[in-house]
Amino acid sequence: MTVPAEKQGDWHRPFAAGASDPGSARAGFSLSGPATLPKKIAVIGSTGNIGVNCLDVVDHLPGRLKIVGISGHANNALLVEQAQRHRPEWVAVTHPDAAARLDRSLLPPGCELLVGADALTRRVGDRSAAIDLVVSAIVGAAGLESTWAALEAGRDVAVANKETLVMAGPLVMDLARRTGARVLPVDSEHSALFQLLQEPGALHRVERLVLTGSGGPFRGRTVAQLRDVTIAEALTHPTWRMGRKITIDSATLMNKALELIEARWLFDMPVSKLDAIIHPESVVHSFVEFVDGSVVAQASPPDMRLPIQYAMTWPDRVSGPTRRLDWKNLSRWTFEQPDRVAFPALDLGLQVAAAGGTAGAVFNAANEVAVERFLGGQLAFLEISQLVSAVLLAHSHDLRPGLDDLKRIDQWARLEARRWQNK
Ligand SMILES: NC(=O)c1ccc[n+]([C@@H]2O[C@H](COP(=O)([O-])OP(=O)(O)OC[C@H]3O[C@@H](n4cnc5c(N)ncnc54)[C@H](OP(=O)(O)O)[C@@H]3O)[C@@H](O)[C@H]2O)c1
Repeated sequence: MTVPAEKQGDWHRPFAAGASDPGSARAGFSLSGPATLPKKIAVIGSTGNIGVNCLDVVDHLPGRLKIVGISGHANNALLVEQAQRHRPEWVAVTHPDAAARLDRSLLPPGCELLVGADALTRRVGDRSAAIDLVVSAIVGAAGLESTWAALEAGRDVAVANKETLVMAGPLVMDLARRTGARVLPVDSEHSALFQLLQEPGALHRVERLVLTGSGGPFRGRTVAQLRDVTIAEALTHPTWRMGRKITIDSATLMNKALELIEARWLFDMPVSKLDAIIHPESVVHSFVEFVDGSVVAQASPPDMRLPIQYAMTWPDRVSGPTRRLDWKNLSRWTFEQPDRVAFPALDLGLQVAAAGGTAGAVFNAANEVAVERFLGGQLAFLEISQLVSAVLLAHSHDLRPGLDDLKRIDQWARLEARRWQNK
C-alpha cells in the first residue's frame, strides 16, 4: 500500500529505526488540523467512560469535531441517547442480543444501524468511509480487531484501548508504519509523554520515561492488609472515575504494568529506560528525563477529557472543557516508590515488556479473566497477580508471532486462567 504524501514523516515514525519523531511530524501536518473541518470522528466504545468523555469534548468543540459514528456493546439506552444528541451517520451495536432488542425507530432519521462486531470492523476498515479519526475506546481484547482494521485502512486512531498495544504492540506499530496511519495516545500517561516529546529530535535524546500512578485505593497497604479486601473497596478509586476493569487494574497496579508495556511499543523504548513512580494526587501524568539530566513533566487535573481532546485536535491545542489547576490552593505534589512486594504486577509487566512476543497477549488475557473472576467473587484480590504469573509461566513463548498466533494464544491463556486454582 502506498502512504499518502501528507502522512509521510508522521509521529509514529520514530519507532522505525533512524526515522523522525513526534516533533518533526509537524512538518507534514497543518497545525490547524485536517484541510476540512469539522474533523469526522468515529468513537467505538462510545457508551463507556472514555467514550462518554470523548463525546463531551466534541460537544464543546462544535465546528472543529463532528461525530460520524458510535458503537456500544450492551447499553442501548445510552447509545440511543448519544445518537439522538450527536446525529451520527451510523450506530453499531456489537452484542447480538442488544442489537435484537434495540428499537430502531428511536434512532434519528437516516442513521444506519450496524449489527455485530464484524460490521463495525468492516466500517472502520472501509477506506471509502467518511472518517478522519477513530477513537478506540472499547475495553479489553475485543478492541483489537476494529483498531487493527482502521489502521490497516491507513486511518488515524486515537488509542485508549491499551490492550491492543499490550497484546500486539510490535505488529500494530509496524502496521501503522506501513499504511501511514497515526497512532495517537489517549491514556493520560502516554499522552503526557507524547506532549513532552513534541520537540524535533526529542525522542532520540531520552534517558528515561517515568510514568506516574496514583497507587490506587490500596496504596500503603501490606500484603497481609490486602488479603481480605472487598470488591467494593477495590472499585473505589481515589482520584479517577473509570470503567470497572481499569479500576481493578489500578488497584492491583496491573494498569501501570499494562501502561509500561504500552509505552515500550508506542515509543519503541527499551525496558531499561522505563520506570514508574507513585504520585497520589494524579496531577503529574509522566516525566521525561533527557540525556543532559533535564527532567520535564506534564501536569493537569485528573480529567481524561484533556488527553482525549489532545488526541483529537493534535497537533493543535484549543480551549476545551477540561478542569483547570487550582493554583490558589496548590501547595504540594508528592511522590513515592511503588511497593513491589505488595504489588508484584509492576515487575511482572516489566518482564513481559522485555520478553515481547506472545508474552503481552498472555499477560493481558490472563489478567482480563482474573479481573472477571475477582469481580465474580471467585478470586481473592492477591490471587489476581498470582493467576497471571502462573499462566505466564505455563505458556510457551514465541518471539515473533503473527496476528493469528496472538489470537490463538489469547484463547489458550483465557482457558488456563479460567481453570486456575490456587494450590
Ligand atoms: N476510563 C479511563 O479513564 C481510561 C483511561 C485510560 C485508558 N482507558 C482504556 O480505555 C478503554 C475503555 O475504558 P473505559 O473505562 O471507558 O471502559 P468501560 O467504561 O467499561 O467502557 C467500555 C466500552 O466498551 C464496550 N464494550 C464492552 N465489551 C465489548 C465487546 N466485547 N465488544 C465491543 N465493545 C465492548 C462497552 O459497551 P457497553 O457499555 O454498551 O456494554 C463500552 O462502550 C480500556 O481499554 C481502558 O483500559 C480508560
